[in-house]
Amino acid sequence: MHISTYSTADRAARASATRVLECLRTHPSLVLGLPTGLTPVPLYRALVRAHQLGRADFSQATTFNLDEFLGLGRGDAGSYRTFMDTHLFAHVNLPPRRAHVLDGRAKDWRAEVKAYDARIQRVGGLDLVILGIGRNGHLGFNEPGPTLAARTHRVRLRTATRRANAGLFEGDWRRVPTHALSMGIGTILGAREIILLATGQTKARIVARALHGPITTRVPASLLQAHPNVAVCLDRDAASAL
Ligand code: GLP
Repeated sequence: MHISTYSTADRAARASATRVLECLRTHPSLVLGLPTGLTPVPLYRALVRAHQLGRADFSQATTFNLDEFLGLGRGDAGSYRTFMDTHLFAHVNLPPRRAHVLDGRAKDWRAEVKAYDARIQRVGGLDLVILGIGRNGHLGFNEPGPTLAARTHRVRLRTATRRANAGLFEGDWRRVPTHALSMGIGTILGAREIILLATGQTKARIVARALHGPITTRVPASLLQAHPNVAVCLDRDAASAL
């Protein structure tokens, strides 16, 4: 694991954007795994800016988002699809057919999660996955537990996770769906390269447990310690308990 600490959240996000842009330049048909949440917003801002300046060409890239709320999809205000449209997809030249987000409104979620893994396999797997981290150590929506699902699956969200996502639902956590679809931990760890981006004091404790604590499914992000190619980008606050 290569851990870098930056003076501000914006600098940490820009450092991860720089790596995405480097990969995109050397490998235009890059397959990216993408997160949602407040943390990656400045990263997406940097990617959009680079594209506007002619420094980022997404025309051959493919993206797979990590997760989506069950019951929500394209056009729904709280959906991660809408989040991605707003922060990235609408502003870069990524072909819409290659911008994959799980469809939380799919009639048959079992078929949806199977098809998602198959699509990832068909394009040769994930080259680079960007991850945020939940305060309980979740990655995507892989919540802590006695076991973790390897492949894309349906999850029941913890109340704490629903509260953390309330911002997408006008601050009312009860409106946050109770379930979600999430890329599995095996699919995530199958990526050739991973960047974990964490910023803010609220992440300090879990970052320390994930990076230096025991590897356990009770802290899903701790499994990153077993991956050979992980870069961790932190701001000073998130690094303060290391
Ligand atoms: C959600 C997402 C995660 C994300 C986490 C942290 O639960 N499913 O992928 O890492 O939020 O979000 P934030 O960056 O807003 O702290």
